[in-house]
Amino acid sequence: MKSYTQWAVATLAAVAPLCAAQTYTNCNPLNETCPADTGLNVWSFSTNFTEGESAFKRWNMTDGAVNSTDLGAQFVISAEGDAPTIQSDFYIFFGYVEVKFRAANGTGIISTSVMESDDLDEIDWEQVSTYDDEIQTNYFGKGNTTSYDRATTVNVTSPEEEFHTYAVNWTSSKLEWFRDGTLVRTLEYADAVDGKNYPQTPMNIRIGIWAGGDPDNSVGTIEWAGGETDYSDGPFIMYLESVKIINYNPADTYTYTDKTGDWTSIKAANSSSTSSKSTNSTSSSSSSSNSTSSSSSSSSSGSVSTSAATGLSASFGSLFAVVGAGLLVSLLQI
Ligand SMILES: *[C@@H]1O[C@H](CO)[C@@H](O)[C@H](O)[C@H]1NC(C)=O
Ligand SMILES: *[C@@H]1O[C@H](CO)[C@@H](O)[C@H](O)[C@H]1NC(C)=O
Ligand SMILES: *[C@@H]1O[C@H](CO)[C@@H](O)[C@H](O)[C@H]1NC(C)=O
Ligand SMILES: *[C@@H]1O[C@H](CO)[C@@H](O)[C@H](O)[C@H]1NC(C)=O
Ligand SMILES: *[C@@H]1O[C@H](CO)[C@@H](O)[C@H](O)[C@H]1NC(C)=O
Ligand SMILES: *[C@@H]1O[C@H](CO)[C@@H](O)[C@H](O)[C@H]1NC(C)=O
Ligand SMILES: *[C@@H]1O[C@H](CO)[C@@H](O)[C@H](O)[C@H]1NC(C)=O
Ligand SMILES: *[C@@H]1O[C@H](CO)[C@@H](O)[C@H](O)[C@H]1NC(C)=O
Ligand SMILES: *[C@@H]1O[C@H](CO)[C@@H](O)[C@H](O)[C@H]1NC(C)=O
Ligand SMILES: *[C@@H]1O[C@H](CO)[C@@H](O)[C@H](O)[C@H]1NC(C)=O
Ligand SMILES: *[C@@H]1O[C@H](CO)[C@@H](O)[C@H](O)[C@H]1NC(C)=O
Repeated sequence: MKSYTQWAVATLAAVAPLCAAQTYTNCNPLNETCPADTGLNVWSFSTNFTEGESAFKRWNMTDGAVNSTDLGAQFVISAEGDAPTIQSDFYIFFGYVEVKFRAANGTGIISTSVMESDDLDEIDWEQVSTYDDEIQTNYFGKGNTTSYDRATTVNVTSPEEEFHTYAVNWTSSKLEWFRDGTLVRTLEYADAVDGKNYPQTPMNIRIGIWAGGDPDNSVGTIEWAGGETDYSDGPFIMYLESVKIINYNPADTYTYTDKTGDWTSIKAANSSSTSSKSTNSTSSSSSSSNSTSSSSSSSSSGSVSTSAATGLSASFGSLFAVVGAGLLVSLLQI
């Protein structure tokens, strides 16, 4: 059984060093013809992971088992190779994503919320357990890892003992990171190599933990993780209370119409059969019928506008994405 690291080195060398367990693509539309992405076709969506197993309805477990507890979804590392991760079964195309979690304790354990697109645009929050007073932000465009100077460090009080909210507001012109509602970083489109490195293609959301300090990892990764993980100190546990999402371009499908990876090349479309469905808020719990989105999503009024919306043309069709969770699992079994 290969360890996480062997898997990463063998398959993802270019993207591996940061939050590697969540950063992969099954089909890169800049290189090949891929199925359309399944979109979230409502404006807002939220999940409260304290509500039981039904909370995982729109979330695929891409590695390991993740359970609902009173504190939220529980991600546990107890042994080498554990990297429990969940992934939204839909994509969004520009939007607001807020996660509320308590990071794992220990040394070298990375608690992450990653947004990833098929052509490897990426937006990250990464908490390194070794440092209990900070969290990192990062981003990538088209899997370009030629330099690692995109990360910043943000102060946060006891992220491994307390729950905090970590959010991003992602539009075609700028990307903002918020910790507990406070703006801590802004990336303008032009500041990312004139947009070349700017994340701008439909993304799904991947949340989980992995051991950056695994003794088998590269020296550089272990150093970044603040030292070697000693599994006998475990289990190491991250709790994810909730996720709130606003999709600025709700649609059934997103299709890359060319190989530029430019946001203007993405076509958002509804299939005729589902376009009549227009609920604005969904809860993943079937037992609570009313909207669960509250505080922070209340700022999600129609005033949020992205220039992206106007560039998109609607069309009919019923393409369904086949972006599978199986890849990570199958790679781990190599
Ligand atoms: C594109 O495909 C080539 C050949 O299959 C591969 O070497 C390369 O890594 C791919 N690039 C991306 C961005 O996926
Ligand atoms: C999730 O549900 C629990 C239990 O009802 C509640 O205490 C908590 O505030 C909710 N979290 C969010 C972020 O809404
Ligand atoms: C934990 O989650 C797994 C995977 O969904 C499930 O099979 C198992 O029954 C859950 N365990 C508990 C105690 O809920
Ligand atoms: C989620 O899982 C379902 C059922 O296995 C699969 O059809 C779908 O492609 C998966 N989606 C993602 C984004 O992993
Ligand atoms: C990759 O990013 C670097 C800056 O980090 C930039 O100088 C370079 O041009 C980019 N490469 C491509 C192919 O976009
Ligand atoms: C973050 O914390 C460090 C160490 O306490 C302090 O020096 C720095 O000024 C803080 N940064 C911000 C932005 O508060
Ligand atoms: C995290 O580890 C530190 C140091 O070992 C310990 O003091 C603290 O109680 C732990 N916190 C949790 C939530 O387990
Ligand atoms: C798709 O349908 C949803 C829900 O009715 C709607 O909000 C959205 O604007 C539609 N998207 C497109 C591209 O037509
Ligand atoms: C949903 O909202 C309606 C009207 O505001 C209220 O009467 C009802 O009790 C609520 N149901 C639940 C499950 O909260
Ligand atoms: C969703 O809510 C927004 C903001 O309240 C509103 O502007 C929009 O028209 C709503 N869309 C649908 C499909 O109800
Ligand atoms: C997100 O950014 C847009 C565009 O700048 C702005 O209109 C909107 O209010 C922002 N939303 C949040 C939740 O910060």
